[in-house]
Amino acid sequence: MLKRYFQKVSQSDTSSKTHLLQNIYLKWTDEKRIHIDNAQVELLKALQITLDNIALCVEYLHMPLLHKINAPPPKQKSLYIYGDVGRGKSMLMQLFYENCPTPKKKRYHYSQFMCDLHAFSHEFTKLNKTEMIAAYAKKLSSEFILICIDEFYVTDIADAMLLERLFTKLFERNLTLVVTSNRHPNDLYRGGIQKEQFLIFTKLLLNNATIVALDTHTDYRLSYLKSAQQVFYYPLGDSADQFIKTTYDQLTEKAPITPYSVEVLGRTLSLTSAYQDILLTSFNELCEQPLGSHDYHLIAQLFNVVIMANIPKLSSEKRNESKRFMTLIDALYEHNVKLICTADSPAEDLYLDGDGAFEFRRTVSRLIEMQAQNYLDSVHN
Ligand SMILES: Nc1ncnc2c1ncn2[C@@H]1O[C@H](COP(=O)(O)OP(=O)(O)OP(=O)(O)O)[C@@H](O)[C@H]1O
Ligand SMILES: [Mg+2]
Repeated sequence: MLKRYFQKVSQSDTSSKTHLLQNIYLKWTDEKRIHIDNAQVELLKALQITLDNIALCVEYLHMPLLHKINAPPPKQKSLYIYGDVGRGKSMLMQLFYENCPTPKKKRYHYSQFMCDLHAFSHEFTKLNKTEMIAAYAKKLSSEFILICIDEFYVTDIADAMLLERLFTKLFERNLTLVVTSNRHPNDLYRGGIQKEQFLIFTKLLLNNATIVALDTHTDYRLSYLKSAQQVFYYPLGDSADQFIKTTYDQLTEKAPITPYSVEVLGRTLSLTSAYQDILLTSFNELCEQPLGSHDYHLIAQLFNVVIMANIPKLSSEKRNESKRFMTLIDALYEHNVKLICTADSPAEDLYLDGDGAFEFRRTVSRLIEMQAQNYLDSVHN
């Protein structure tokens, strides 16, 4: 076993022996679920090497203790994927993640990752920062050998410094990070202040991760939204339900409905289904429950596309629901989230008169703008 392990270690550094990810990808293209894209196939090679290394790590963890004393654990190399929006980074990361042969893995959206880090930090106010980071790194690496962080960006120098300390510890503990981002590590920080501090973080990424560009020309999300032509569907009824189903299937390559929950201010927010950065939900779920601005902003940060069913006619009798809907649309609009929805009527007829109709005019204007091509072309913020 030891011999086989060492053979694998030496082979894994240069090229991948297996083609599991590529094979699944090609099967999807055969089934016409996706288009073949050479740049994506290239990226799959890097993901496959990472997957093979993780498989070796899993094998090592199962080795008898005596063997482990004589053999160091296989050195893991992290992966940093960058590329423009809608190129398929999250899709390929999900494919990789689902096929990684270990339960000791976790996939985060970047904002979730930071939320958890800050929550941990909050609990450990007694400890100083260095001890807190060491404790969190220990916790993460005892639970996981792989952490995927999707849609990574850092705009805040304080976060960069925190992450620099945390990632240093995680790399020391041989944990594999797989990150997707819209920017190369060199371009992550455009803030200006304390640039030297940020450079330390950039260097850490460059030294510990393989940096791979996903250089395809097609923005698949945009091409779908363009071909969908309609993002605001009315009236409600069977064909509206069918529209929601077809849209979800097309955007997610027929992913099964997977309920999603997230902690907000100590409460659990439960949503119908999420796949990568696409949320399937309804007016009832978002506006008929006692949710507020915090919940909506978190949703707007986590998801790039929100598919929302069954927006009813609104009125002063539905004052609370209407207010929540207005707050929700503000949050989605602020973050350039693409809204695909079904409604009882066109936006301008949703709230016709009575108390609150005047305030609703801003929402109508936003709903109309959110159907326009240049809004659909805008980058999730
Ligand atoms: N080769 C492909 N053929 C068809 N659809 C694709 C292909 N690649 C990606 N898609 C679809 O395009 C959409 C965008 O992909 P994805 O969300 O993975 O992009 P991304 O690179 O993560 O974008 P962002 O930078 O905005 O997060 C998804 O619905 C995905 O399923
Ligand atoms: Mg993405």
